This record gives sequence, C-alpha cells and structure tokens, in this order.
Amino acid sequence: MGGGSGVSFVAGLEGVVAARTRISGVDGEAGVLTLAGFPVEELAGRATFEEVVYLLRHDALPDAGELAAFRTALAGRRGLPAATVDLLRAAADSGIPEMDALRMTADTLSLDVSEDPALDLVARFPVIVAAYHRLLRGEEPVPSDPGLGHAANYLYMLRGEAPGEGSVRALETYLGTVSDHGMNASTFAARVIVATRSDFVSAVVGAVGALKGPLHGGAPGPALDVVFEIGAAGNAETVLREKLRRGERLMGFGHRIYRVRDPRADVLAAAAERLYASDADGDLYELALEVEETALRLLAEHRPGRNLQTNVEFYTALLLHGLGLPAELFTPTFAVGRVAGWTAHCIEQQAEDRLIRPQSEYVGAEDRRWVPPEERPSPRSGEALPG
Ligand code: COA
Repeated sequence: MGGGSGVSFVAGLEGVVAARTRISGVDGEAGVLTLAGFPVEELAGRATFEEVVYLLRHDALPDAGELAAFRTALAGRRGLPAATVDLLRAAADSGIPEMDALRMTADTLSLDVSEDPALDLVARFPVIVAAYHRLLRGEEPVPSDPGLGHAANYLYMLRGEAPGEGSVRALETYLGTVSDHGMNASTFAARVIVATRSDFVSAVVGAVGALKGPLHGGAPGPALDVVFEIGAAGNAETVLREKLRRGERLMGFGHRIYRVRDPRADVLAAAAERLYASDADGDLYELALEVEETALRLLAEHRPGRNLQTNVEFYTALLLHGLGLPAELFTPTFAVGRVAGWTAHCIEQQAEDRLIRPQSEYVGAEDRRWVPPEERPSPRSGEALPG
C-alpha cells in the first residue's frame, strides 16, 4: 500500500531536491561548491569567518563599516548564561563526550536569547566548545577576549594564549570552508524543525544531534589515525593495501555527492600546506601527501571507474591537528563552522514558512483485528517478547 500520491519511495532521499536555497550550491559531478555565489576556493582562503556569516545571512559581503559593526555585535554575544556554565561543569565531571556536551548546553541557550537568536548561537558555539574542552581537562575556562575576532578568540580560549596570524588564517579558512554544504543531513534537520514554526535553538540542537553521527561529521579523527598508523611513507602501500584487502574503507576518501575531487579538499590542503610550512610539523604534512597519493592509486585499482577521490575530512584532520586541536575537537569545531550555515538556513526557512512534511510508504501488516489479550496467540518459541 503506498502513500496514495503516486510518488515513489527513494531510500535516503537520494537525488530528491528538498529545498530551494541561495545559501550554498553543490555540483557533485563538476566538483563545485558555491557559497552565496562565491566559489569556495575564492572565498574561504580570504574572508574572515565574520564575513562568511554575514554573507550567508545577508547574501552580500559587508562593507568595512558593516563588517566592523557585525564583528562587534558577534563578539558582544559570547557570554554564556550561568546555568550553561554550571551544566558544562557537571558534564565535565561525568566525562560526557564533547558533542553530547555541546548538544546539551546549546539547549540551555534558550535561557538568554536576544532578538537575534541566530547570532547568539553562532557567537556562543566556540565559547561552549572551548570552555568544555578545558573543563574536561580539569582547567578553568579562559574568558573570551572581545578584542579578538571570532576564530582568533576560539583558539585563544582553547590555548589560553593569543594565537599567531598563521593559525588564525588557517582556522578562518577551515570554518569558512565548512560553513555550509547544500542539503546535508544536519541542515535538513534544522530546516524541518524551523518549518514547524519552532524556534532556532531547537533547530540547531537537532542539527548538532545529526552532525554527531559518524556518517556525517565524524570521519576526520579516523582519517588522521591512518596517517599516524602508517607512520612513514614507505609503509603506506602495505598498510592501505591490507585495509582494502580486509574490506575496510579508507577514511577521508569517497563521497556520496562528489564524483570528482571534493573542492573543499583543495582549499584545506592549500591551507594545511601554508600552516605546516610556518607553524607545524612539516614532516607530517609530507607524509600525509604520500598517504593521499598512495590511497588514490590503490582506490583506483580497487574500484576502477568509481573515481574515489580525497574528501574534505582528510585535510580537515591534517589542518586541525596542525592547529594543535586533538581529535575529540574535530567534530565540535566542524559545528562551530556549520552553525553559520544552519542559522542562515533557519532564517531562509522561516521566511519561506512552509511546513516540510513528506510522506511514507506503509509496508506493515494489513487487516489485523483486535482481540482481548487472553485470546491472543502466545508468541512463537524463540520470538522475543517486547521488554
Ligand atoms: N575506501 C574503500 N572503498 C570505498 C571507499 C573508501 N573510502 N568509499 C567507497 N568505497 C567503495 C564502497 O565500498 C563501494 O564498494 P561496493 O560497491 O563493493 O560496496 C564503492 O566504493 C562505491 O561506494 P559509493 O556508493 O561511492 O559510497 P557511498 O556513497 O555509499 O559512501 C562514503 C560515501 C563517504 C560514506 C564512503 O565513500 C566512505 O565510507 N568513505 C570513507 C569515510 C569518509 O571519509 N567519510 C567522510 C565523508 S565526507
């Protein structure tokens, strides 16, 4: 029995166009990501994160005066409600993982939202992540520095010391690169929630829950583990061949949408190259290049014709590691960037004001009749009783 609409089921909504948006466009065949009209390569290496947030919200880059005012407005919203900090402390005492702590405390931001909750959320995400990271390690949070830009302040709050220009530029590039990416699962979740006329905090909490899943935001840690496991360029072929022989996937390669190289990989590779040349361990960068080259060669042998290419996660791992971030912070830092896209989508969806309500196809039993419990057949042996 179908939904009665003549529309057929598509597993995973693959290929289904669920929204019209001016925020970002992904062309998986051509390997193009456009952020409000700018190719990601054009924008991410140059713009500050504040410019990207403004662009996604307003569909135009700010002029110098608008940017200064926007920077000040964003920096002025970093303060967390006292109860949020209390909850972070309690979560740290229980050793709750970073993404769970972010989801739990993002919810408490409802305690103190301004007339612009989208901006509150963007401003406070890095504050939550950095404060929690320190609490988990038994350290006190570092108060934010209103004189520092969004990305610089995040690094400052994590490290406790002002970051160098190279680190800030690398992080701005990362955050801009991942700020939005079409109708990905977490953005879709946020739009579904706002489309019911629910609030932005609820939408972003739902989005964090979606991003947390390993099929969405969780691959960069494992991608870096492989580079460390390989350890020296000479081992790359043996280690990777063995993984493929065992049927494992090589983390950081392949993509559901891109059939060519993920354009974000190039932007982040260039940023990682600059960072490692100045601030970080150049040998690790060289090793990662060797691992990538070997992985691409072996994947071409393994799945000829499928064109499995490097995805965003491979160089995310390298870049964030070069910034001194441990793997547990990779997905929360992804959220710090993507909250720009989520909130822009919330604003867009709110303006559209159309409930998102797809159909399902019923495939369950038919024509059952209710009988009193004592007349129901007992479960067949071996069949589990509901708990
Ligand atoms: N390593 C080895 N084999 C891979 C692979 C990888 N990284 N990615 C895809 N393949 C194989 C698949 O196993 C599949 O083989 P099969 O037909 O024998 O099952 C074939 O290539 C085609 O897979 P495809 O349909 O392109 O993958 P998908 O759309 O189902 O999955 C990913 C996309 C991203 C989940 C998948 O490429 C993957 O698991 N990559 C590693 C994890 C990762 O980097 N995730 C971050 C994504 S941004």
